[in-house]
Amino acid sequence: MKKIRKAVFPVAGLGTRFLPATKAMPKEMLPVVDRPVIQYVVDEARAAGVEHFIFVTGRNKAVIEDHFDRQVELEMTLSERNKKSELVALENDLPGAGTTSFTRQQSPLGLGHAVWCARELVGREPFALLLPDVLVHAKKGCLAQMIEAYLAIGEASNVIAVEEVPDDMTHMYGVVGTGKKRDNAFEITSMVEKPAKGTAPSNLIITGRYILQPEIFDMLSAHERGAGNEIQITDAMIRLSQRQAFYGLKFEGRTYDCGSKLGFLSANVAYALERDDLAPAFRTELQRLLAAK
Ligand code: G1P
Repeated sequence: MKKIRKAVFPVAGLGTRFLPATKAMPKEMLPVVDRPVIQYVVDEARAAGVEHFIFVTGRNKAVIEDHFDRQVELEMTLSERNKKSELVALENDLPGAGTTSFTRQQSPLGLGHAVWCARELVGREPFALLLPDVLVHAKKGCLAQMIEAYLAIGEASNVIAVEEVPDDMTHMYGVVGTGKKRDNAFEITSMVEKPAKGTAPSNLIITGRYILQPEIFDMLSAHERGAGNEIQITDAMIRLSQRQAFYGLKFEGRTYDCGSKLGFLSANVAYALERDDLAPAFRTELQRLLAAK
């Protein structure tokens, strides 16, 4: 079994749901408390043992690259002012030298196309795919749970994180059909991207964390359009599932869809309430605000 060494982060999306905040700033840089959303997702991959971080960016996304680099002037100023904890925090967030790669999706042709743009950087090995809109709050990171399940299954398969949603929400996601249980996971028997209302095979949706075999790139190279006239990763997975096994993992943890305003606001509240330096005062303030409404 090959180790999962590389992770792909598709960060080319326009972020229209957060305009005007995202007119000049990438949506992945919006802060949850005091860290950009993308930092949490990269940290999740790092905690799962990922060694190389591949970002598929687009125009107006250069600050993501800057974020994962040193800011020498800032470091000098913090050091002159003896701000040691801030310096340590910056250092801890920084991926190691030579462990990040950036490529661009030149046209917004869909998530599948964005992933395909990473094919040369990934090469012919299994890799993780993490959608940066989705934050998973969990004791053990979602990707770490998935890698554990993948290794327990013990074959070159594909593993997708899934979670339950109310039936009337399945049409907004990729949805899987469930088969036999296998260790902690289950066999996926079918997949469909954004099923019409009332047609979903279950209420288990694809959450935005995947472990994929490199043959997915061969499927994506067909450039077939699917839901929304976009090249969909789910469609490529459907094609690959005719040759390779796909497993679903109901992970432990709670997700926040930071691509939606409600999810983003909820993530800010939830993550702030976890912070020792903020929680007591924030809780009081929240109670005051709620009481006044
Ligand atoms: C994408 C995937 C979908 C998945 C979702 C999770 O959709 O195509 O299968 O369920 O992410 O957030 P998007 O949110 O890009 O429409």
